[in-house]
Amino acid sequence: MKNILEAPFLIEMVRTASNMYAHGWDERNGGNISLLLEEQDAAEYLTGRPVLRAIPTGFSAPELTGKYFLVTGTGKYFKNVEHDPEANLGIVRLTDGGQTAQLLWGYSDGGQFTSEFPAHMMSHVARLKVDPANRVVMHCHPGNLLAMTYVHDLDEKAFTRTLWQMCTECIVVFPDGVNVLPWMLCGTNEIGEATAGKMATARLVVWSQHGIYGAGKDLDETFGLIETAEKAAEIYMKIAHLPRVNTITDAQLHLLEGRFNVKAREGYLQ
Ligand code: 13P
Ligand code: ZN
Repeated sequence: MKNILEAPFLIEMVRTASNMYAHGWDERNGGNISLLLEEQDAAEYLTGRPVLRAIPTGFSAPELTGKYFLVTGTGKYFKNVEHDPEANLGIVRLTDGGQTAQLLWGYSDGGQFTSEFPAHMMSHVARLKVDPANRVVMHCHPGNLLAMTYVHDLDEKAFTRTLWQMCTECIVVFPDGVNVLPWMLCGTNEIGEATAGKMATARLVVWSQHGIYGAGKDLDETFGLIETAEKAAEIYMKIAHLPRVNTITDAQLHLLEGRFNVKAREGYLQ
């Protein structure tokens, strides 16, 4: 059996957690990541491993039965992942219609997956319906996006348009825009269902006064998605209190659509 600590997917996960911490997006135990493993990786690294523990999930997700996920642990600090991946991360196989997670590796100090497991798994289901290549759901607490939810209208179209206007490349990176949830109690099936509902139409979902969720086909792409939205929010927080003399116009956003072959969310541009 191959050594999981040498698996490219595990190395990439560790690098991503460290990088997110370095960006200041994951104070203390803030944030969580889940990666749907490729079948070939699961076969190479996990076949024959005994089930260490069976953990009830508290929800069902029949679409994910038999699937393997690498997931950050609850209460774990992203800054520590690189120093002890086996305590801070775990690999689970979902069975029983998604109601049971079989632990195959990790959470070595007796821990378990993130408290936001419902939002992660339900978001995987939602994104896989739109894009079968989706593999990653990522949650974190970037300061400028969070700050923006205190001072900006939470209407999704208004929020998205502001971000698109802050950096030229935003509309290219997230043409589907940013969906927004009001403040809700985190760590619940309810916020999981609401997040998954929003994931049907966009890869970014803001949790007001809390943070953001991103989804994508790999860790790099998902990190880059959040990074781009956070940069736009940073520009907004630098200029929000100043008179706006210039902006990126809708005509210019249409030019970007044409040049980079993307289609802005229907009805979001004039
Ligand atoms: P966990 O430590 O359970 O992953 O929770 C962190 C968090 O960001 C909750 O929203
Ligand atoms: Zn959080």
